[in-house]
This record gives sequence, C-alpha cells and structure tokens, in this order.
Amino acid sequence: MQFPTYRPRRLRKDELFREMIRETHLRPDDFVLPLFVRPGKGVKKSISSMPGHFQLSIDLLIKEVKEARSMGILGVILFGIPEKKDEQGSEAYSSNGIIQRAIRQIKEKVDGILVITDVCLCEYTSHGHCGVVNEGKVLNDETLEVLSRQALSHAEAGADIVAPSDMMDGRVAAIRKILDENQFQDIPILSYAAKYASAFYGPFRAAAESKPQFGDRKSYQMDPANGEEALREVWLDLEEGADMIMVKPALPYLDILYRVKQTFNIPVAAYNVSGEFSMIKAASKLGWVDGDQVMMESLIAIKRAGADLILTYFAKEAAKKLG
Ligand code: PBG
Repeated sequence: MQFPTYRPRRLRKDELFREMIRETHLRPDDFVLPLFVRPGKGVKKSISSMPGHFQLSIDLLIKEVKEARSMGILGVILFGIPEKKDEQGSEAYSSNGIIQRAIRQIKEKVDGILVITDVCLCEYTSHGHCGVVNEGKVLNDETLEVLSRQALSHAEAGADIVAPSDMMDGRVAAIRKILDENQFQDIPILSYAAKYASAFYGPFRAAAESKPQFGDRKSYQMDPANGEEALREVWLDLEEGADMIMVKPALPYLDILYRVKQTFNIPVAAYNVSGEFSMIKAASKLGWVDGDQVMMESLIAIKRAGADLILTYFAKEAAKKLG
C-alpha cells in the first residue's frame, strides 16, 4: 500500500466515519467506583487532594452507590476508615467493622451492583503497613492468617468479590482455602497481582489515612523497573486460584497491562489510581489541560491496552459523559 493509494485520512474525515471504524468503546459498566467509608451519620468529609471524593458515613455511602448504579456503573470497591487502629489491624476482620457494616447495608438497600472489597491491613494497623509487623519487618505468613479472616468476614457480610491488595506471597491460596472451607466457593478473587510500589498512591493514603508510619512498601509491592516479574506474579496468583487479575497503577503501566492480557487472556482490571486522577484534576484547575478530554483519553487508552474493567475515581464523571 503506497501513497497516494492508501490515504488513512479518508476514514477520519468526520465524526461519522470515525465512529464507524472506532476500535475501542467505553461504557459505564467498564468502571468500578472506589468509595471511602467511615463511622458516623450524615458525615461527608471532603478529601482535599481528590476533588469530588469524600469519606462518607454509611447512610451517605448508600446514596452514592444508588447514584452510581443509576448511571450504569455495576461495581464499587470499598475502603474503610475504622473507629480504631491497632498493631494487628484487628478491625479489619471484625464482623461489626466499618466495611462489614457497609457491605450489609448496601446489599440490603441497593440492587444490581457488585460490592468488591479491598483485602489489606494498611487502613487498620497503627503502623500503616499492609501486614503484621515485628521489629520493623512486615511478616509474610503471619499476615496470611489475618488477611484470610478479613476476606472471610467480607464474604460473610455479603461481599460479591474480594480483592487482596496487600502483596504478601501466597495470599490468594490462603484466601481461596478459607472461603472454600466456609462454603464461599462461589466468591471470586480479584487479585492485585501486579501492584507496584508507586508514588501515585499519595492522595489515596491521605484519603484512607493509611500512610506507613515508618519506611515504605518496597519490600512487598513491586519495583517499577520490572516487567517480567509482573508476569510471574500473575502466573502465581492464577495458579493459586485468582479469577481476575489487577494491574496497578494503570497509565504508567500500560505495557504491563498489555502483556498480562496478551499472555494470559484472562479478565484483567486496571486501577487508575489516585495520583493519576489528582494530576489531571490539578492541571485542569490550572487551565493547563482540558480535564474532561484528558479523562476520556486516559480511560480509552487503558481499555485499548487490555483492561476489561477500570477502577477509577472518574467513574461517575465518565459515565455521565457517556450516558
Ligand atoms: C492498599 C491500597 C492502596 C491503594 C488501593 N489499595 C494503597 C497502597 O498500597 O498504599 C491505592 C489506590 C489509589 O492510589 O488510588 N490497601
């Protein structure tokens, strides 16, 4: 095909042509909305680094979930800010914990939306690490026990999908085992398999009050320089029984997303994380980019790279634009 025989611009002439040959489409049901829940009633505490997002008490959370559902969003992922934190993160698996109560209320009051829960200890531990700590080290196998109890408590409260994000080795197998032993064979695991030690989580840690009080997460989350290792992590989690895999963050890791999808051809979720959201919001506020257009371009790029599902703080805004 040689110029001028092939003129790609012929098919870009106007929006009708472009629409006709468009390869990737976004729909509201591609999105999962992350939500932050805290104790209290009528509480709507704004998160300054994430405009439009709030820590909500359960009553207001319900309204938010209903609104998301009415826009065609089919999933929410919950993060809890507990009443109290301790060394072990024991609120994480309390049957009366903030997340467990929130799940029960959503399941009782809202139809047709899937509740995904983040299985991790960082929001519940006083030190802010994702696992049990001893002498400044995050212990792997001791943490598995706590994570399993947490996942089970979520399933008992009515969660539809559990999503371990702690990055301990062997946690998918441990969670699958305890769920199966308790007749939750049908609850799928969405594993944050390729989760990088990323500075893009900054705004989230303010939102979820989960910043590590010492050190960093580099001994459990992945090194941003590694790609092959992501494939090994995914392979391992699939072997252990993961039903879906997550790549996180999304935009700086589209190569990983693409490779995971191409290699394993399984349902893949991408987490368009807080920093990715806040950067666009900030630049847009300064008038440096068109926030709406950059949002839609980012989301289509994530889907084009291979995401079947996008966890994004833009879920409602994007769904509104599509609807
Ligand atoms: C861990 C968890 C984190 C995020 C989701 N689950 C933070 C972390 O690993 O420090 C980050 C999400 C985001 O930045 O939007 N519970």
